[in-house]
Amino acid sequence: RRLLRSCEDKAGKIFDAKFNSNDELHSQEKLIKLSEGCDGILSALTDKLDAATINKLPESIKILSNFAVGFGNIDLDAAKKRNIIVTNTPDVLTDATAEIGILLILGACRRAPEGIEAAKESNWKWSADYLIGKQLTGTRLGILGMGRIGQAVARRAKGFGMSIHYHNRNKLHSEIESELEATWWESLDQMISRMDIISINCPHTEATHHMIGSNQLNLMQKHSYLVNTSRGEIVDEKSMTDHLISGSIAGAGLDVYENEPKIDPRLKKLKNVVLLPHIGSATIEGRVAMGEKVIINIKTVADGHTPPDLVLETLI
Ligand code: DGY
Repeated sequence: RRLLRSCEDKAGKIFDAKFNSNDELHSQEKLIKLSEGCDGILSALTDKLDAATINKLPESIKILSNFAVGFGNIDLDAAKKRNIIVTNTPDVLTDATAEIGILLILGACRRAPEGIEAAKESNWKWSADYLIGKQLTGTRLGILGMGRIGQAVARRAKGFGMSIHYHNRNKLHSEIESELEATWWESLDQMISRMDIISINCPHTEATHHMIGSNQLNLMQKHSYLVNTSRGEIVDEKSMTDHLISGSIAGAGLDVYENEPKIDPRLKKLKNVVLLPHIGSATIEGRVAMGEKVIINIKTVADGHTPPDLVLETLI
C-alpha cells in the first residue's frame, strides 16, 4: 500500500523499491506476481498473506515487514515453513491506539454520536434527563489482552477513576500490577460477567478468533459496553450486533470490524455504538515511526541480521 511520502522517499533511497503509487488493494495473484525478483515485501494489514499466497511467493522473499503491530493478515506457520521472517511495528502506536480506546469508551458511555448529531442538526434543548450517559468514575474495566496497548489503556483509564481488571494468559509482573492496581482474572468468562466495560486489546490469532462470541456476549451485563481497537475478527460481529439490537448489552465502541471495510449495516443504524474507521494508529507520530520501523526491519534482514521487531507468535 502507499505509505507517507517521507517514508517512501527514504525507502526509495535505501532499496530498489517497487511502490504501489495508486494505493491499490492487490489481489493475492498480483502480490505474488509483483514480488518476483524481490527480497522482501512491505505489507499492510489489508494484504492477506495466507498460506496459499505465501507458498507461492518466489524463493527470493526473505522478509514480510508488516506496517502494523497486528499480524493477523499473515500466516505465521506458512512463513516459518518457508523460512520467511515476519516483522511488525510494535511500541510506536501504543499510545495512539490507547487514546482511541479511551475515546471509544468515553464516546460510548457519554453517547457522543447522538450528541454530535443532535448538535449539528440543532434539534436539541437542554433538559435534566437529556442524553444521560454513564460516568466512568468507579466503573470496572476488563481488559482482554494486557500487553503494551492493554497496559496503556489501563494507565489512562486509571486516571478516569476506573478500576482495572484483565484477562491475559500470564499474570503481569507484580510491580506493574500494583502500579495499575490491576486484578488478574484467569477465567475470561468470569471477568466478562462482572465488568462494566470490556476493552479488547489482544492480537488476532487462531486462538483469539471469535474469543468474544455469543457465549461471552450472553455473559455481559445489560448495562455493559464492549470496546474493540484490536481486530474485528476477535468478536463475532453478527452476534454482537444482535446483542446491541436486543439491548442485552448497553453499547459498543468499535474501531475495527470483522470484514473491513464492510460494517454490518445493522450496526450503522444503531444509536448506542460509536463507529470509527480503523484509525487507532492514525497519528502523524505513529505513521512516521511505523515507516521507520518497517524500513529498519527490512534493512536489518538485508544486512544479514535479526530484525528488531521479529514476530514470535504470542497468544494472550
Ligand atoms: C495496527 O498496527 O495493527 C493497526 O491496527 C494498523 O492501523
